[in-house]
Order: sequence, then structure tokens, then C-alpha cells
Amino acid sequence: MTRVLVVGSINMDLVTTARQFPRPGETLTGQRFATYPGGKGANQAVAAARLGAQVTMLGCVGDDAFGRELKQTLASEGIDTQWVFTASGQPTGIAAITVCDAENAIIVVPGANHALTPEQITAAAAAFAAADVVLAQLEVPLASVTAAAEQAQKHGKPFFLNPAPAVVLPQQLLDLVTLLTPNEYELALALNEHAASWQALFARLPGRVVMTQGKAGASYSAPDGQIVGQPGFAVSAVDTTGAGDTFNGALATFWQLGAPEAMRRACAAGALSVTKPGAQSGMPTLAELDRFLEQQS
Ligand code: RIB
Repeated sequence: MTRVLVVGSINMDLVTTARQFPRPGETLTGQRFATYPGGKGANQAVAAARLGAQVTMLGCVGDDAFGRELKQTLASEGIDTQWVFTASGQPTGIAAITVCDAENAIIVVPGANHALTPEQITAAAAAFAAADVVLAQLEVPLASVTAAAEQAQKHGKPFFLNPAPAVVLPQQLLDLVTLLTPNEYELALALNEHAASWQALFARLPGRVVMTQGKAGASYSAPDGQIVGQPGFAVSAVDTTGAGDTFNGALATFWQLGAPEAMRRACAAGALSVTKPGAQSGMPTLAELDRFLEQQS
């Protein structure tokens, strides 16, 4: 069983379903509203836990009803929440999401996620020591992500970074990343290279990038310079929120099986995740993933 430490955000997603996205100044009538547990960190933690990983979450919620509910939700998935800090005077992070024809538009208000400090990361050294792999994203402060990468290095653990939301990555952080998991846009921004093709950027990071390509699947820059592709799986999409997070949680869980098999399982898990509303509702269990993959062959 892979032990995954996830360092990242915990949000409540406030999701409105509408027939079209509003334009500036426009008021529309939506079809549905619901709240769902979310946040890239929490989503990736839940994805990994459902697939059989032993998961510890390192993050921060506010001292409010959303924070208590989200921490409880993580615990109910079997995730160790002893390193989920509570920031007094900060609201729990939220994401205002509009879903239309399975696509989404998201505004994140980080709240307590931005109260996660490098000191709290260092205080959780025991969690790094106990992990097989550390998985982070960029919805908590960059200084804290860097501290997590340093802790991972200190304990000799691989550090996977899903560079979302996209920013230019400081070289100091990039040097500490074992595996970067961007989409094409995030890859260009992370490396601050907008003119080069993704294939050219892959050549700069052999063995260190798995790029997600939406419905088309994913590609890996193998250590020998080859590009290993994994096609996507066709499903009927209801809500694509959290598909990338499901992919990342699965990839970290299955990486020990080798890149091609880990990508196959991660693409399948990501595909299944879009078949239900909300980021986490469609994330498959290991049994569901196995059944889906058997049906494909
Ligand atoms: O990746 C999807 C997630 O991004 C949502 O759950 C939302 O909370 C935002 O963080």
C-alpha cells in the first residue's frame, strides 16, 4: 500500500449549474446549486485514498463550519487529518464554480489555505518521514510548497508537484521536483517558456514530466528522451471538476507500477471522475477502477 502525503488546499466548492456562462454584467437563472468538498489538495488526497493508498493530508482550514465539515469528510475517507491545521480568524477556502455542459469556470478564494506556513510544514516532519511519496499543488503559499519539497528531499522521498493554478516556478523549487504533472498551459508557464513546443520542454526534463491532455490522455517524458503516450478513455462527462486531481492522486498511488501502467490507471480514474457532479463524487474506488479497465480490454 503506497503511503501518500498530500500537501495542499482544502476548499468547499459552491457549485452552480447553468445553461450558459454569464457574461460581465449579466444575470442568469441557474438550474441547480450544491456544495461539495473540494480543493486540489483534498481532491488528490481523496482520489488516492479511494484507490487504496494510505493518505495523510497536510493543510489548513478555518475555524468555521466548512472547515469542520471538510476535515470530517477527509477523515471519513480514511485519511489521516492530524496535520490539518485550523487557522483562527481565517475563513475556510472556497471555490465558486459554474458548471455548464460539463465544463467549468472557477474562482477560488484561498482563505485559510494561505495561512499554511513553512513552519507548519517543518513541524510535520514525521509525516514526511512516514511517506513513500509527497504530492503537492499550488493552492497554498509557494514558500510552503518549497518547504514541503525541502522536507521531501531531506527525508529522501519523491516530490510530485501538480503546478496548478499555474505560475512561473522558481528554479529552486523546480530543482526539488521529482515529477511535474502540468497540463500543456501549466507546463509552459511553470518553465516560463511560451515559444517552445511541449515536446521541446519535455526534452529539458527527461523522466520528470507527466503532462495531462484532457480527453486525449497524458504523455510522459521518459528518462531516455522518448515520449510515452497514454490515450484517454471515452466516457459521458457530467462535470469535469477534479478530473486532473483524480489523475494526480492515482498517479502518485500507482507510480511504483511504472510510468505506463500508472498513467493508464490515472487516465481511467480521471475519466470515471467526470461521470458524476462535484470534484470527489465520481472518484473511483480501486474495485471500480479495476472493473472499468477490464471492460476496456
Ligand atoms: O481542481 C478542482 C478544484 O479546484 C476544485 O475542487 C476547487 O476547489 C479548486 O480548488
